[in-house]
Amino acid sequence: MTDLIIAVDGPAASGKGTIARALARHYGLPHLDTGLLYRAVAANVTMLELDPAQEADAVAATDFPDSLMDEPALRSDEMGKRASIVSAHPLVRAALLQRQRKFAHQPGGAVLDGRDIGTVIAPDATAKLFVRATPGIRAKRRHAELTGRGSFVSLDKVLADIRARDARDMGREAAPLVLANDAMLLDTSFLSIEASVEKAIELVEGRRAEQ
Ligand code: DC
Repeated sequence: MTDLIIAVDGPAASGKGTIARALARHYGLPHLDTGLLYRAVAANVTMLELDPAQEADAVAATDFPDSLMDEPALRSDEMGKRASIVSAHPLVRAALLQRQRKFAHQPGGAVLDGRDIGTVIAPDATAKLFVRATPGIRAKRRHAELTGRGSFVSLDKVLADIRARDARDMGREAAPLVLANDAMLLDTSFLSIEASVEKAIELVEGRRAEQ
């Protein structure tokens, strides 16, 4: 059987992580949340008291210990914002490239989620999904998640942060978030998690049947 590489790209809080994890479980494949790599760089920059906006500082922080990726602190919105800042530096992206390519091309295949999986990391992926939802809906979901974790921020602030992150991730020069021309669009705005996962499996199966 040929390797099954599934690329799941999309903006912050679109549901791509949940969908990627569910696909990995469904197909029995390993999964890599590539946002965690950039979040780990951001956390390392912070620990080293360096400046995430300076490319050389951010590059120096790419040599982080693997254990850092398990830190719950990486999941905060603040770290997401700093990850978005370090990820705009081409040399930071270059430093993390091989690790992601190797993961994608392991025997059997893999599921990866991020911003540039279908365009840069695995342009040869079997199936590419681009997961999206309206900014307002993504903000509501993220707000509910943060509130559930006991962190209280206003919905307006969450929406403003999401818009700022979209602008940075889509507007940067280096590997911006764009829809690969062979990607399949999955809009989760009006879908439950279960329905989104079901639709994702259906799309992947459709692509596999074509090959
Ligand atoms: O998916 P996430 O929210 O955890 O990602 C955090 C930031 O990392 C995101 O705003 C942009 C960056 N990122 C990236 O540039 N490329 C990826 N493949 C994954 C994340």
